[in-house]
Amino acid sequence: MPTQLIDGFGRVHRDLRIAVTDRCNFRCTYCMPVEGMQWQPRSEILTFEEIERLARLMVERYGVDGIRLTGGEPTVRARITVLIEKLAALGVDLSMTTNGTTLQAMAHDLRAAGLNRLNISIDSLKRDRFAEITRRDGLAEVLAGIDSAVHAGFDPVKLNVVVMAGVNDDELVDFVDFGIDHGVEVRFIEFMPLDASGGWNNDLVFTRQQILDVISEVHPLIEVERTSAPATRFRLADGSGQIGVISSVSESFCTTCDRVRITADGQFRNCLFANDETDVRALLRNGSTDDELAAALERSVAAKWAGHEINQVNFVRPSRSMSQIGG
Ligand code: GTP
Ligand code: 5AD
Ligand code: SF4
Repeated sequence: MPTQLIDGFGRVHRDLRIAVTDRCNFRCTYCMPVEGMQWQPRSEILTFEEIERLARLMVERYGVDGIRLTGGEPTVRARITVLIEKLAALGVDLSMTTNGTTLQAMAHDLRAAGLNRLNISIDSLKRDRFAEITRRDGLAEVLAGIDSAVHAGFDPVKLNVVVMAGVNDDELVDFVDFGIDHGVEVRFIEFMPLDASGGWNNDLVFTRQQILDVISEVHPLIEVERTSAPATRFRLADGSGQIGVISSVSESFCTTCDRVRITADGQFRNCLFANDETDVRALLRNGSTDDELAAALERSVAAKWAGHEINQVNFVRPSRSMSQIGG
């Protein structure tokens, strides 16, 4: 029985999310500012060897059994399949969240390297609106990327739709129908205050209840049992598919959270919304032993709070954008 990475509330952490780059070929409005986004210098980004050492330690010592690669856009990191091969060898459930633009070219190679699952972000099925949200005319590429992911054998393929009131809340049923037609699971995500540019406000949040009300008028839904995953899943009553809703804002799921994350520049975070980070890169580069590294991880997890405080007066928005934290 490995030691557990456990916090003061008894939550055991087995899910590691690794941002492999802060770079991205999109600039989604809810994630990055229009201008002034400076990519981190190469020397500050963890090398594959550093990532592998950290991941191995967490798998072997703490029983971490799920690793998700995020970004920025993880597929723009050069030779990403080499990292996937190294991490797949650890025997974990290895997944990736991507914007889908490179999948036409890469889906097959990602799968062959050992990636198990793919989540693809897509916030509109309308070309102009998609371009406004991502600041790039990329809908056709992403749609083709989704097909490539399915053809490459990824199962499940999940789609992430960030729902913003007055922006794309009129497309919910279209997305459910798209999911049915393409055999993919669509997840609707409440807009969270992680845009760094300060564009978020509560009026832009289209809540879980609003999402369910709109969809169930057309597609009656049956809730499937909850797990520690952020998404609550619903089956379409006619058996044609399933959807998920990620309600970080209106009904947080922090009490069952089992996640930790490492940013592209090697900062360990015990929560998506954390205001403190642990400088693991410094430890990796100053000759620290595995025991010293492990002690730092344990201290960070032990100090984890009960949960984020969005909607409360003492909430402090993380100073880094989502693209730097890793989704
Ligand atoms: P699976 O459940 O394994 O498919 O992955 P996932 O849903 O956790 O991963 P994904 O990267 O696709 O994230 C979907 C949405 O959930 C994104 O908007 C994430 O930012 C959000 N999310 C992921 N982890 C957390 C978390 O720890 N806390 C909160 N509040 N939101 C999270
Ligand atoms: N609120 C909710 N989801 C977000 N994502 C990025 N920024 C936000 C935000 N502010 C989603 C992306 C991607 C995942 C990593 O996180 O759409 O699917
Ligand atoms: Fe890039 Fe993902 Fe952020 Fe969009 S949400 S700008 S695709 S990192």
